[in-house]
Amino acid sequence: MSYEVPKNDKLLKWVEEMATLCQPEKIHWCDGSQQEYDELCALLVKSGTFRKLNPEKRPNSYLAWSDPIDVARVEDRTFICSISKNDAGPTNNWMHPKEMKTKLKGLFKGCMKGRTMYVIPFSMGPLGSPIAKIGVEISDSPYVVINMRIMARMGKAVLDVLGSGEFIPCMHSVGAPLEPGQQDSPWPCNKEKYIVHFPEERSIWSFGSGYGGNALLGKKCLALRIASKIGKDEGWLAEHMLILGVESPEGEKTYVGAAFPSACGKTNFAMLIPPKSFQSKGWKVTTIGDDIAWIKPAADGKIYAINPEYGYFGVAPGTNAKTNPNAMASCAANTIFTNVALTPDGDVWWEGMTDEPPAKLTDWQGQEWTPGCGRPAAHPNARFTSPASQCPSIDPDWENPKGVPISAFIFGGRRKNTIPLVYQSFNWSYGVYLAATMGSETTAAAVGATGNVRRDPFAMLPFCGYHMADYFSHWLQFGRTIARPPRIFSVNWFQKDEDGKFVWPGYGENMRVLKWIVERVTGRTGAVESPLGWMPRYQDIDWEGLDISREKFHEIMAVDRAQWKDELVAHDELFIKLFDRMPKEFLHIRELITSSLWRSPEHWEQIGDVHPEGWNE
Ligand code: OXD
Ligand code: MN
Repeated sequence: MSYEVPKNDKLLKWVEEMATLCQPEKIHWCDGSQQEYDELCALLVKSGTFRKLNPEKRPNSYLAWSDPIDVARVEDRTFICSISKNDAGPTNNWMHPKEMKTKLKGLFKGCMKGRTMYVIPFSMGPLGSPIAKIGVEISDSPYVVINMRIMARMGKAVLDVLGSGEFIPCMHSVGAPLEPGQQDSPWPCNKEKYIVHFPEERSIWSFGSGYGGNALLGKKCLALRIASKIGKDEGWLAEHMLILGVESPEGEKTYVGAAFPSACGKTNFAMLIPPKSFQSKGWKVTTIGDDIAWIKPAADGKIYAINPEYGYFGVAPGTNAKTNPNAMASCAANTIFTNVALTPDGDVWWEGMTDEPPAKLTDWQGQEWTPGCGRPAAHPNARFTSPASQCPSIDPDWENPKGVPISAFIFGGRRKNTIPLVYQSFNWSYGVYLAATMGSETTAAAVGATGNVRRDPFAMLPFCGYHMADYFSHWLQFGRTIARPPRIFSVNWFQKDEDGKFVWPGYGENMRVLKWIVERVTGRTGAVESPLGWMPRYQDIDWEGLDISREKFHEIMAVDRAQWKDELVAHDELFIKLFDRMPKEFLHIRELITSSLWRSPEHWEQIGDVHPEGWNE
């Protein structure tokens, strides 16, 4: 024990019980100090998990290569074990808590033999903030300890705040006991994986994986799956959202929350650098968080959001000095890289980092790599774990325990067609509908085929800790209780032309859309009615410095009836799946959208003078 543990009977009893079950060689209570961090990094270098990167290129940074069977979240092994199956809903895997506990006790029995059991106290949210929640993770992975210290406020200070109070127990093992004399593997894990949540009891058990989304239990497991259930019970929201601030040339600050599915550019949008012409006019974007938002109503009729995390667990491939200079600066030092490639001079590389790949690399599986060898050098879900404080665009209020006031919500999937560049929902209920019916092509952030469109309501499909239809009702109800609900917008950065090329430049250019959104909120810009909601006219967007013609704009704003027919059928499939608890409003909204899509062409010609070709096909 590296320090005196404050008196918390529940915690001490739990740690003792878990030690008896898992039979570790020793127990280490993490203090969160720099010394502890450095010692554990040295240990990981010794065991072959970490490679120290060249300190001149990447100070105080390390590279880990995982076992190829442990590279992403495992959605088919993720369970919501509520007492009633119906409370987990048809979009979650379920097993009865008693049956699951029996299974887990069997798996965890002796699973830490030959290893150290780390006790990791952590706070999601600023330490001591009334919005924050304290968890304690038990893990046999020093890699987890290191990453948790970056991703959450972690260590002795958390126990001091906890005192004898309540915490969320988070049990983790890589599931690879070591027999005496057995050589450890650089990335211990188990073929069998279980990521399990008990929402009523508010506890988490994770077995068999060392991958971030499965093993850093403060993140997806606590801050989304368990917190979403707590939020439903207590009247607040835990969301898969980035939070950013937009500062206008007049110095007016507007904060927005935006939900995109995993690996669809949340980190890039959160750290957006406006185009030069916007910068010279005085527009600025600041970052509060890139993945998770906890959102609560306040007495002033507004809602406030905090980022419960302390670092970024960002997708590396595609990140570069042009697409996201702020992310590149964030991971310039003090960073853990996982499954990226190693350069001969001891730095890292991934697809898209530079236009020209280096002539020679060691790939994420430790093999020699040359351009054109036919394999990616980095895994498509390769990650960097970096302290949030290193982000140059970090907002001065990012640790404000009160949070920041949210004026707009943005929802966006990865869709090659059907969904126009941007539109504003007519009202809160329409907005909840658009978010609930959001579809997106699957990505490498989860194990399985990529590129298939699936419904991913609110980008929360893999992260909601209860019945998805109850979650929709919770959102509808939440809107009814706030005096000044944020406006809700849909965006799609990912449309492609017939040759498969992206038609919208994205990245910093998304500022043009963001400015329109912010100005809609502040009532400073125009819009025109469309079958789906309010849309910008060509003249409502600031095009300075970007060559997009009126015709091109109309193409990316088009609402194609044939595609929308399929889209509405896909909405119906979701409704049927969730039918027993589906909010009835949705059926009516669906009817209204259908009827406006099939209104007479003359109607849209009169209203939508700018996009008649799109709305009248
Ligand atoms: C993430 C994810 O790691 O969504 O943030 O998978
Ligand atoms: Mn995420």
